[in-house]
Order: sequence, then C-alpha cells, then structure tokens
Amino acid sequence: MNSGPNRHEKGEAVADAASSPFYTRDATRMDIAAIAAIYGFHVAQGAGTFEEVAPSPDEMRRRFDNVRARGLPWRVAEIDGAVIGYCYASPYNARSAYKFTVQSSVYVDLRWQHRGIGIALLQDVIRACKALGYHQIIAAIGDSRNEGALRLHTVAGYRTIGQALRVGVKLGRWMDIVYMQRALSDPNVPPPAGDPIGFCAAEDQTGP
Ligand SMILES: CC(C)(COP(=O)(O)OP(=O)(O)OC[C@H]1O[C@@H](n2cnc3c(N)ncnc32)[C@H](O)[C@@H]1OP(=O)(O)O)[C@@H](O)C(=O)NCCC(=O)NCCS
Repeated sequence: MNSGPNRHEKGEAVADAASSPFYTRDATRMDIAAIAAIYGFHVAQGAGTFEEVAPSPDEMRRRFDNVRARGLPWRVAEIDGAVIGYCYASPYNARSAYKFTVQSSVYVDLRWQHRGIGIALLQDVIRACKALGYHQIIAAIGDSRNEGALRLHTVAGYRTIGQALRVGVKLGRWMDIVYMQRALSDPNVPPPAGDPIGFCAAEDQTGP
C-alpha cells in the first residue's frame, strides 16, 4: 500500500516559514514522538478528540503499530524535516460486518493550519483506503462548532450523516459529535465476496 512522498506547494505565504513546501509521506516509528506531541496538544486544548489525557509516546506507538499491522494508511506531513500533521485510518467498528468501513482521524499542528496540509493528508488516506478495497470512510468530529474540521471533511467529499448532541463534556462545556461519511466506491456495485486487503478480524467484537 505504501505510497511515496507527495509534494504539495502552497501559493502565497504570509511568512518565510509558511512558504516552505510541505511533503506528505507514510509515517514511521521515528515519527511517533512528533505525532504524540501534536495529538497531545489537541487532547489538552481542543474539541476535535474527546480524549482528555494525552497518550504517552508508547501508547501512540501501540496505536500506530495496530493501524499498520492491518495495512491501513498513516500519513504525516513534514516541513523542513519536522512532522507538523498526520492522518490515519482505523477500523470503524470491531464487528465483522463493518469490515469495508474505516474511520479517519486528522490532526495538524496549530502553527501550521490553513495551509492545505489537512486536506493533502486526508486525500492521501482516502486514496490509500480506496486502493485497499474499503467502501466507506467515516469521521467522528468533536464538536459541532469545530468549523475547521467540518469544512475540511466537506472539501474532501464527506457529508454530514448525523449528530449526537451533548454526549461529551470537555473544556467545561457539553460537546456534540458530528458524523461525516464519504463513499470510497460506487454504491451500485454489490459487496465483494472477499475482504479488504490486509483486513484482520478483531478477536474481541465487544461493542465500543
Ligand atoms: C481540521 C484540521 C485538521 C484542518 O487542517 P488544516 O491544515 O488547517 O486544513 P486545510 O488548510 O487543508 O483546509 C482545508 C479546508 O478547510 C478550511 N478550514 C480549515 N480550517 C478552518 C477553520 N478554522 N474555519 C473554517 N474553515 C477552515 C480551509 O479553508 C479549507 O477549505 P477551502 O479549500 O474551502 O479553503 C485542523 O484544523 C486541526 O488539526 N484541527 C484539530 C483536530 C481536529 O479537529 N481533527 C478532526 C477530528 S478527526
């Protein structure tokens, strides 16, 4: 599945650093510390994830290994040798009938947002999931006021399919989850007989 680096160059930049081209590429274990730092910020300060305690680099490594063991994509964006964003796909639900559906997650360092990095990463992951034979991709976005994430996923072809109201409490307020979905294949084509490439049935199919 591994795809090589993509170069994305943005147009007008507002600062020297911002004019640096960024690259997206497959993540490796060497990127875990940077990934953990980016995610840790969003855990502590943001509504995008409902985790409240930043996972350790060891825990992020475990999650990364779990994604990669299934052949699912985990991409990073890099500027001048620094990882400044990432996006990956994970199983949507452990129960086996969901096997053609994945969930996407995308996080960009606050200092590097609004430069097209999020959309480049998400498009990489969408492309990779299509190539693996997945049929639907879902994003669970916290919260309904997260305009950046809602806009990003709309631009990437996702549509809102539902919203769970006030199911979370974070940063001192109730938070919603907005579910957005994008088809990865033609809905008129019947389900294939086999599995997506790399699919591993979960041993534990207990609900989330
Ligand atoms: C969501 C996030 C990944 C977007 O990353 P980004 O690199 O800033 O996004 P891009 O620059 O690629 O922008 C993609 C689109 O979203 C729009 N957008 C980005 N941030 C926005 C904001 N705060 N408000 C409105 N629109 C925004 C951009 O204008 C662009 O749309 P356009 O092509 O119509 O102009 C980033 O804001 C982030 O990390 N947020 C916190 C984590 C999170 O919420 N993740 C989603 C849960 S999985």
